Amino acid sequence: MNVIDKAIELLNAGEVIGLPTETVYGLAGSINHISAIEKIFKVKDRPFFDPLIVHVANLEQAQSLTKDWSMAAEVLANKFWPGPLTLVLQKSEIVSDLITSGLDTVGIRMPNHPLALELISKLNVPLAAPSANKFGRTSPTTAQHVLEEFRNENIFIIDGGPCEIGIESTVVSIKKSEDLYKISILRKGAITESEIKAELSLCKVKYQIIQATDPHEAPGHMKHHYMPSVPLIICEEENLTQKMILDIINAEIHHLPEAVSGIKIIKPSGLLNNFAELRLDEVPALAARKLYSELRVLSKYPCIVYFRKTHKDEEAWAGIYERLYKAASLVIGKKA
Ligand code: TXA
Ligand code: MG
Repeated sequence: MNVIDKAIELLNAGEVIGLPTETVYGLAGSINHISAIEKIFKVKDRPFFDPLIVHVANLEQAQSLTKDWSMAAEVLANKFWPGPLTLVLQKSEIVSDLITSGLDTVGIRMPNHPLALELISKLNVPLAAPSANKFGRTSPTTAQHVLEEFRNENIFIIDGGPCEIGIESTVVSIKKSEDLYKISILRKGAITESEIKAELSLCKVKYQIIQATDPHEAPGHMKHHYMPSVPLIICEEENLTQKMILDIINAEIHHLPEAVSGIKIIKPSGLLNNFAELRLDEVPALAARKLYSELRVLSKYPCIVYFRKTHKDEEAWAGIYERLYKAASLVIGKKA
């Protein structure tokens, strides 16, 4: 039996599987099986207030999940799907409250990975799938990462190779009021706000970008997330020697809590006399692709330091920095 058929058999039996996508690997279950959705939350230790994204293989499936397939959704889906963009729209009755954490909206995405698309279209049912990591942790970008994350759970994983994008999709909420679309970027990603605005303008969609201020609208966007198992420190100051940095870390690190927002961090047992430096490629797409696997590799050291750079195209780096700052236990010389 090939991997796709095996995955279909498991999904139809209400099981969860490891799903490759172009962003990160997902932990997927059929939206028709409540037991699979419950298992996703359980296996991930994910709180029930954090809703799941539903993955589709075609526009018909996307439209079936929402009561409000608007012109703005159509324009953005036509331009960016399949791809790293999640649209948050009014949900239809076929989406259970468990998937949306009781919200009346649902996140929908068509992933750009041949195996994911083949699986969802053959199964003929959309798949709910968060990133395949324990809650709050670094997301997996290889099948091996998923295996390591859920070693005790015996989960079938489709190996689709390393993820091309490497960070999670851009999440965009679309709300229509009168003849104006209110667009909020709830999570940054490979598709930037400028690209979204450019496409809406090109297609003559009347819109306004608004900041989501209601925490219920962006429930998964807590302060800490994507955290490696050891402290990640961001250094924004440019003129510090290694000794000065170590002095600051040694003075601060032991005051940090053992866990932030329930996410455990292994603190160094004694004084540090060295740290591992996270180095990222200068091309943002390549930096994003390697980001999570680098964090995993460097987690064998007691502490990781990243030196904040300035870039010609800061917007292309925004998704990477959103993750780095949420993953950090400490920031030296916080910028205003
Ligand atoms: O690239 C991705 O989006 C990956 C791959 C597997 O598709 N998935 C992913 O899922 O990152 P997850 O669950 O790790 O992150 C989904 C984010 C969460 O922060 C969640 O709160 C938000 O999307 N989200 C999902 N549905 C939402 C909704 N109805 N309203 C607001 N935020 C929502
Ligand atoms: Mg996640």
